[in-house]
Amino acid sequence: MAQGKVCLAADVSVVAMTPDLGAEVRGVDLCAPLSDACFARIVEIFHRYGVIYLREQALDARLLARFAARFGEAEPTPSDEHALPGLPQVGVLVDSTRTAGHARPEPSYWHSDRSHDATPPAATLLYAVNGADTGSIEFVNMYAVFSALAPEKQLLVQKLRGLHVALSPEPHAGVEANTAQRRGTEHPLVRIHPETGKRALYLAKEVVVRAAGLREEDSRKLIEQLEAFATQPRFVYAHRWRKGDLLIWDNRCTLHRMLSHGSDRTLYRIRVRGEEPIAG
Ligand SMILES: [Fe+2]
Repeated sequence: MAQGKVCLAADVSVVAMTPDLGAEVRGVDLCAPLSDACFARIVEIFHRYGVIYLREQALDARLLARFAARFGEAEPTPSDEHALPGLPQVGVLVDSTRTAGHARPEPSYWHSDRSHDATPPAATLLYAVNGADTGSIEFVNMYAVFSALAPEKQLLVQKLRGLHVALSPEPHAGVEANTAQRRGTEHPLVRIHPETGKRALYLAKEVVVRAAGLREEDSRKLIEQLEAFATQPRFVYAHRWRKGDLLIWDNRCTLHRMLSHGSDRTLYRIRVRGEEPIAG
């Protein structure tokens, strides 16, 4: 589309990466104004594919924040992560051989962002500001995982809750918040997405330390079995970053892990507020 022109719904096209996870949204220049219909089309694609990306964007932090705000209220960057001055919702991640990272890097284990929070973020936006090799990130479609479970396993997990803990609590969050993060939060193992109404498995073995009500060994075995089932290649989409990519994922129906960190790259991250997971 022509630069500066208002984006209309008809400008938007979609290229699916897999039948139901991961899609490239084309025809949108986020530096230009977006009509409501154009944004509604992007949201529709987001809900259909769980992870979307837009390539070759020339955003600055302010434009990124403006776009993120259309998805909902942004969370402030946690106390131990580096936020941009004047834009507390924009976290800066730096992977560099020369500079120490500003923020905690994206973990290499499977997780859904900040699942130890009582109201984990609904969505995360990650924008590759620069970097020649920006690494890759993998996603799992947790709707498809739940659907593929045997009926008796579905019934079992629908009755259970998992205890999610922070693996590295924020050192400057204060004693109370720190203790709460270590104590963790219980969420249903199966959650209903408030927009799509679909059920998704909600767990990852590194962060869910216990399925409430089960014996310790049974709990561990079940969680590990479920993650192994969930992370089979048939449920996974791997995204190779390029400079200018804006990636947006839905934490309510996907897991992710950073497969490789890029060299000398900078990323901006914004998390959009979510809701208490709805048991399904
Ligand atoms: Fe993450």
